[in-house]
Amino acid sequence: MAKISALQGISKRKSPGHHTPRKRSHKRDHAWVDVSDDDLEVKSTKKPSSKSSIKFDLSSRKKPRLSTTSGPSGFFSNDSLQQQRKQLPIYAGKDAVVDLVRENDVTVLIGETGSGKTTQVPQYLLEAELAGSGMIAITQPRKVAATSLASRVAFEQSTSVGSLVGYSVRFDEASSSSTRIKYVTDGMLVRELLGDPLLSRYNIIIIDEAHERTLRTDLLIANLKTILQARNGSASVNRTGDKGKGKHKMPGNYNPLKVVIMSATLEAEKFSKFFGGVKVAYIKGRQHPVIIYQTTSSQPDYVDAALRTFFQIHTDQPPGDVLIFLPGQEDIESLEKSIKMYANQVPKDSLSILICPMYAALPPSMQTRIFLAAPVGTRKCILATNIAETSITIPGVKYVIDTGKCKEKRYIAKQNGTGFDTLLTRDITQSSAVQRAGRAGREGKGFCFRLYTEDTFNALPLTAEPEICRCTLASSLLQLRCLSQNLEEVDFMDKPDEESIYFAIKTLVLLGALDTHKTLTPLGRKMAAFPLEPPLARALLAASDLGCTAEVLTIVSVLSTSAKLFVDSHDVRDAAVEARRKFRHLSGDHLTVLNVVRAYEDVSRSEGKAGRKDWCRKMFLNERCLAEAMSIRTQLRDVCERHQVDWKVGLREHEGSDGDQGLILRAIAQGLVQNAAFLQPDGSYKQAMGHTMIKIHPSSSLVDKKVPAIVYDELVYTTHVYARGVSAVPKNFITETQILRQRTG
Ligand code: CDP
Ligand code: MG
Repeated sequence: MAKISALQGISKRKSPGHHTPRKRSHKRDHAWVDVSDDDLEVKSTKKPSSKSSIKFDLSSRKKPRLSTTSGPSGFFSNDSLQQQRKQLPIYAGKDAVVDLVRENDVTVLIGETGSGKTTQVPQYLLEAELAGSGMIAITQPRKVAATSLASRVAFEQSTSVGSLVGYSVRFDEASSSSTRIKYVTDGMLVRELLGDPLLSRYNIIIIDEAHERTLRTDLLIANLKTILQARNGSASVNRTGDKGKGKHKMPGNYNPLKVVIMSATLEAEKFSKFFGGVKVAYIKGRQHPVIIYQTTSSQPDYVDAALRTFFQIHTDQPPGDVLIFLPGQEDIESLEKSIKMYANQVPKDSLSILICPMYAALPPSMQTRIFLAAPVGTRKCILATNIAETSITIPGVKYVIDTGKCKEKRYIAKQNGTGFDTLLTRDITQSSAVQRAGRAGREGKGFCFRLYTEDTFNALPLTAEPEICRCTLASSLLQLRCLSQNLEEVDFMDKPDEESIYFAIKTLVLLGALDTHKTLTPLGRKMAAFPLEPPLARALLAASDLGCTAEVLTIVSVLSTSAKLFVDSHDVRDAAVEARRKFRHLSGDHLTVLNVVRAYEDVSRSEGKAGRKDWCRKMFLNERCLAEAMSIRTQLRDVCERHQVDWKVGLREHEGSDGDQGLILRAIAQGLVQNAAFLQPDGSYKQAMGHTMIKIHPSSSLVDKKVPAIVYDELVYTTHVYARGVSAVPKNFITETQILRQRTG
């Protein structure tokens, strides 16, 4: 392919404002090097190396072109859908997969994205009656994937979600007594362990996207090993002839369990070895060649580079959808604005552009759009995080633009005596880069534009470090303690380091969930019952002692949403601050949030749905966040009821009565005791339990205020370490809790 030229008429235009394209370089646009000689073309899954591997070679089959219309809201008959199912690469291996699972307790299944693992395998196993009378669970690291897959599979089964096929994710569930296939987040299944340590409702558990090695997935994998022993006994492989109808009932009346580990890339041997050398099946995907281009120089402003590359493709290249990988929601929103701004400047006869964002926090109603074919005369431009790398397959993509960046949760500053998780933008791994390029070759020859150089690619790590080695472990440790397990003793695929374990223990002792002998306290057990991070669960239970459960429940619900409450883009910031001034509480952000929700409830009552929407717009509030918070609150109230916490108890409200509201802050401070900082003589803040110097985030209502002590929801790491979600509290709220825990905890 010829070198892609600079975009005529656009590259020299003035920057349209401060979103992006930020500073536009007037240098020559990137020169592309074609590096796709035979060796670098994206290839199908690595060939199996072990003797125990089985391979379904589908290369001799006709390669039918898949229809680009799919998904629950597509308009096509179920007949054609059933035809599509038969054209998936995995279909040819259906019997082999079913036999393998029938004959083995654990199977590792490797296959390229789009081959049909996630949607088809549960249906095959159900049809073959391998689940007996139990359920099949399929785990996903992300909520969006679990819910959208459930819709898709329900549709394939001609039913609605929640009947035969359901899902269960944090704060949302659709299932019934007739549910047999359930898509769940890995976190939800860990939570189910607490009430049902042998996961006895499930006869088949499929751990999907295992290569992502999330903390919860690793926790599940470790537990499955012991569950298998308990339910299946030690002679766990080779059950030839077992039709899975409960013939092998074990003492204690448990049905035997089947485990399937599914993954898109490599690491198959590691999973196999962990379960004692189980069989690995490889499904070869249908992959067309992808030509990969890399830049000759590095592109520090990757959003701007993506913008230019998109328009180069759009003006020069034949039809075909474009998938752009970006690290996170902010970059996606920023690029969306820029593309819209420039879209009317392309030649009149160009295709029109349909932008589809895709990130974990996107509401389900907007997710279905990306699976629909672009209308005639339109080019779809999907702006996605690494969620589109393996979890979901988007049809119609011919061009991929890869910024080479992703966001990763990471535990930092632990050397300072206290650690915290933060999302950092970082370079992707080589295996991610290969996955991303592969998205372009699903339906025909494709093109991938890497916005980084070949040297950069070569220097990338091969695979990502498992989350267990880089995130805080407090919440997992608490769950394990409820199962009478210790982090140190669990047989993990990769062991967490001692320092991280030490900090997790320290956090839980400080919160009163463990005593100083590391024994689980009744309070700790109660905290674990709430689907909340330990600090928020602690704040809620403290509120119940202090008589302000209703208020703290509201605040905690907002803090647990996936969206931001305040609409705060650069261009509206001043107007937004002005509009929301009346909600501001002197003590800071937590009580400000409470004021916002109270006002929202008043408006809902007096003006109904339409009025509420309008009000949110005028106040620069994200209505989606508020609606989600209301739904979370309802569910947390149910949990409260199940655990004898009276959620109705609240302060008797006297307008402006700070004395009462101090109790709310006291409860919040008990939860956020580790997230506290004290004012220093020079006007900066220093962590109460650590040495990190922090600043109050510009988005906080306390910015520029000097108060003796603050507590905060989280730290974000940019040019400085910033505290976000900040409240001023009396210093003794912090010191008293610390001393109390050290003495009694
Ligand atoms: O798990 P794997 O990547 O192997 O494939 P899958 O998720 O089972 O997807 C199989 C096929 O179903 C793909 O071709 C997708 O395009 C299609 N699909 C869809 O159209 N809509 C969904 N919500 C999910 C899958
Ligand atoms: Mg999948």
